[in-house]
Parts: sequence; C-alpha cells; structure tokens
Amino acid sequence: MTKTILITGASTGIGYATARLFQQRGWNVVATMRSPEKAGALAALENVCCLRLDVTDSESIQQAIAQALQQFGSIDVLVNNAGYGLIGAFEACSIEQIERQFGTNVFGLMAVTRALLPHFREQRSGIIMNVSSIGGHMAFPLYSLYHSTKWAVEGFSDSLQYELEPFNIRVKIIEPGPIKTDFYERSADLATKPGLTAYDAFTAKVMAAMKNAGDTGSPPETTAQVIYRAAKDGSRRLRYPAGGNAGALLFLRKLLPDRLFGGIIRGAMLR
Ligand SMILES: NC(=O)c1ccc[n+]([C@@H]2O[C@H](COP(=O)([O-])OP(=O)(O)OC[C@H]3O[C@@H](n4cnc5c(N)ncnc54)[C@H](OP(=O)(O)O)[C@@H]3O)[C@@H](O)[C@H]2O)c1
Repeated sequence: MTKTILITGASTGIGYATARLFQQRGWNVVATMRSPEKAGALAALENVCCLRLDVTDSESIQQAIAQALQQFGSIDVLVNNAGYGLIGAFEACSIEQIERQFGTNVFGLMAVTRALLPHFREQRSGIIMNVSSIGGHMAFPLYSLYHSTKWAVEGFSDSLQYELEPFNIRVKIIEPGPIKTDFYERSADLATKPGLTAYDAFTAKVMAAMKNAGDTGSPPETTAQVIYRAAKDGSRRLRYPAGGNAGALLFLRKLLPDRLFGGIIRGAMLR
C-alpha cells in the first residue's frame, strides 16, 4: 500500500525538498504550510495535498490532519520540520520573540505530535521525525534561544521514544548542519532593542560568520535524502546527522572538552 508522509513547514527549504523527494519516490505527501498559496510547483504534483497548518494554531493542526486522513486514509510518517531561528543578544530579545520561538520550535512540534499520536496508536505504527539541528548538541554565539528550543526537542524526542515503543511508533531526530535555505535570511528573526548598542560590534562579527555558514551550506536535498533513508531503514536508530559536515561536527563536540570546543568556536566566529 502507498505510504503517506505529513510534513510541516513544507513551503520552502528542507520541508519543500522532502516533499518533492517523497513524491518522486511514489509516496502520498501531505505538504503543510502556513500559506498554501505559496505551494508553487508542489500543488500541481500528483499525490501531493497542500494544506494550511500553522504549528501555533491548534485548530489548523486538527483540520489539516482530518483532511489528510480523509484524502489518504492513513498517515505513516510525520516530519516536524517547521522552525526558524531567533538571532541576537539575549538581552535584546523581547518576551514576545522568546515566546514565539518556543511556540513554534517546541510547543508547535509537540502540538502536531499530540494531534497525530492517537492515529499512530490506533494503527499500531508510525514514525515521528523531529528536525532538530547540530545546534541541539552544541551552541554558537547569539543563538541562545534557538539552541534552547533545539536542546528541548532533543530531550523531548529522546524520552518519548520509550513510551511509544510498545505501540510500534518510532521517534527519530534529524540533525542538520548548515543548510542553504531561507533559515539565515528571510526566516530569521533578528533581535534588536532600541538604545541597546553594547552588543553591536560582537553581533556584526557573528553575523558575518553565520552568513558565510549559510552561503556555503549543503543544499536542502541532502537533508531530504537523510529523512528518506530514516523513513525506510526499518531501524530503531534515533539520531541522523544531515549535510553540512554535521556528522564530523557532532563527533568533535562529543570528543572535546567544553574549553577546547569553545576555543574552536571563538577562533572561527569571534576573531
Ligand atoms: N538551514 C539550516 O542551516 C538548518 C540547520 C539545522 C536545522 N534546521 C532546521 O530545519 C528546519 C527547516 O528550516 P529550513 O532550513 O528549511 O528553513 P526555511 O526554508 O526557512 O524553512 C522553515 C519553514 O518553517 C515554516 N514555519 C515557520 N513558522 C511556522 C509555523 N508557525 N507554522 C508552520 N510553519 C512554519 C516556514 O514557513 P513560511 O514559508 O510560512 O515562513 C518555512 O516553510 C527548521 O526546524 C530549522 O530549525 C535548519
């Protein structure tokens, strides 16, 4: 039987590339996004259903899942991909920015997962793939809030896997390195506070390094391929590095003490 995947944040970047790849491989694809009018070429593809889903809007989540089940009968894989980065000095971030960052990257991911769990439990199968980041294990300057969300996704997913095992539901964490998408520009939420200039020189240095990381990042298709392999490998493997030297960076982070790893980050980004 044809399998069905539901992806959040499928209008651009990794979500879009994942939708295209699964469609090419013969899957039914529920490509969800905040603004389905942005679906572009996706909307015209066979077996692709583009639906409105804002992960911060529980009604849109319920409606999209109900519509997807009506159209395809079941959902086999959920990819919690929607997310973005809040960048800037912690002191410059407003409470609203902090809440929106957690509301999307953590509570939004949890809300979609909660909404789909009864279906996965009933059918006694399902895969939940949470798009974290190498930034779920290490931290770069000016991303304190973004990292907090991805570290939360790591802990959440790692624990969740055990209680879902008896229902044959598997949890997987996708950990991309730098990927060339809208993440570094259009989607980024930059924190600035009127009158707060103390961090300006530091911010300018870090932003230049981050721009370079984005410009030289892997194409989103590399992450889509990792997601495809993770959906197909039949294993209980939890973590999947993806693109942008993610595997090497994660290995280094594990190997090196904080002081040495911090020295590398300072050398690469703060000189
Ligand atoms: N690019 C990287 O270097 C990198 C590295 C590690 C992890 N990641 C993670 O990969 C995931 C995808 O990011 P990307 O690189 O593909 O960047 P992207 O092209 O900016 O894609 C982010 C997607 O999330 C969607 N989104 C944002 N808020 C949403 C909400 N409230 N509800 C539903 N969708 C929402 C965006 O929708 P709109 O089009 O409506 O804005 C967009 O489609 C994110 O979780 C990100 O943290 C990225």
